[in-house]
Amino acid sequence: MQRFLIKDTAKHIGEKVRVCGWVNTRRAHGKILFIDLRDISGILQVVFVPSNKEVYDMAQTLRAEWVVEIIGQIVKRPENMVNPKIETGKVELSVESLKVLSESETLPLSIEGDGYDIGEETRMKYRYLDLRRERMKNNLIVRHKVIKFIRDFLDKEGFAEIETPILTKSTPEGARDYIVPSRQEPGKFYALPQSPQQYKQLLMVAGLEKYFQMAKCLRDEDPRGDRQPEFTQLDLEASFVSQEDVMDLTERLLILIVQNLFPNKKIQEIPFPRISYKDAMKKYNSDKPDIRKDKNDKNLLAFCWVIDFPFFEKTEEGGWTFTHNPFSAAKPEFDEDLLNKKNIENILTSQYDVALNGFEIGGGSIRNHRPEALEKVFEIMGYKKEVIHEKFGHMMEAFKYGAPPHGGIAWGIDRVFALLFEEPNIREVMAFPKTGDGRDLMMKAPSEVDKKQLKELHISITKEKKKK
Ligand code: AMO
Repeated sequence: MQRFLIKDTAKHIGEKVRVCGWVNTRRAHGKILFIDLRDISGILQVVFVPSNKEVYDMAQTLRAEWVVEIIGQIVKRPENMVNPKIETGKVELSVESLKVLSESETLPLSIEGDGYDIGEETRMKYRYLDLRRERMKNNLIVRHKVIKFIRDFLDKEGFAEIETPILTKSTPEGARDYIVPSRQEPGKFYALPQSPQQYKQLLMVAGLEKYFQMAKCLRDEDPRGDRQPEFTQLDLEASFVSQEDVMDLTERLLILIVQNLFPNKKIQEIPFPRISYKDAMKKYNSDKPDIRKDKNDKNLLAFCWVIDFPFFEKTEEGGWTFTHNPFSAAKPEFDEDLLNKKNIENILTSQYDVALNGFEIGGGSIRNHRPEALEKVFEIMGYKKEVIHEKFGHMMEAFKYGAPPHGGIAWGIDRVFALLFEEPNIREVMAFPKTGDGRDLMMKAPSEVDKKQLKELHISITKEKKKK
């Protein structure tokens, strides 16, 4: 017999159905026993009466979160029992047979309510239970819907989703790399990508013209509310585009997402206002300003662009480093200065960041597709020729073979969701995030590995860290 999803049962009054799910609650009303059965789609009231003795006796043993399969008839509820709050509020299931598929011990945390008051340690250790919570389940499902919307939009715009490697070489994105030892080449390491920056640029050299990816990015930095060591970007890149093209595409997509999937939300200003980095710092003392006119309105979305960032900033040691991305082009009027390595503090980059209610949700730039100009960037940063060659030789070489002008952007998708879902941090919109100190309490990662594995990788641990 085919399984019915709970939400569909209301349309089948009088019919016999088979449903499966979890015992949400159990209560007795005189001799009658009720359970609320829960599946991915909703809740159904199930009624056990003493006349069906065998099933009734078995039902007495049911406890919360047991997994059951029930066959029965969908009937109308008595008028005074109607619950207008749920989709199946007008019906109930009159049971014929019951099968226990799995029992459950008492849960170590409550899955009722929104769960914000439960300690993080418990929620993370039992994440698979925490995700049974209505709010968390809904976040993941709406997240899926938004991602699908994005994919469909970009597909229509002629973009192709292309995967790029996770085992790669370190990209200078400003954070620390996670590194992976090579078994075959002792003493050598892969790096996990901080973003697919170099690969997407190489895809432009390859002539793919319009690339995007829901890309996993890995950065060894201390997590906080809007930062995780492992997070997702909507990463995209296109050839023969201007700054305006990329900004326009981003803006159109963000507006469509809000209008189609979050119709209760109001965008403060369209087109998104643009603020120079200098003005943003002067007026808001932030390069991701919160420009909301009413900070109490939870449905207000104040997007803005921040542009005209300085390309370089002084390092503590007195040298220069990039502020955003070494692969960016300077704004055209500073091209000469870059090539001559002059006036360095004043050179502006073609970088554009998009902020929402005080959070940086994305950033990108038009890239430097000329090898000689890229080389100057690295020279300004004080890299020796050999280092440039060793670290970026593949990019310089690729750009020698007909590199199209190109540019792109990446959104921090988790941040976008946290803001749209009004969640206080990005952990609430990720299935399996790390804790504030970078651990996965459920899997117990990071963890020690076998001596044999270490030996294969030619690794010896010199100092045991004190156990926590
Ligand atoms: P950037 O480093 O600015 O640019 O990253 C783009 C966006 O990713 C989000 N983000 C994060 N989200 C959660 N946790 C983190 N640790 C984290 N770090 C960044 C932010 C940010 O705006 N390759 C370039 C993009 C490009 O130039 O096309 C890049 O990665 O929302």
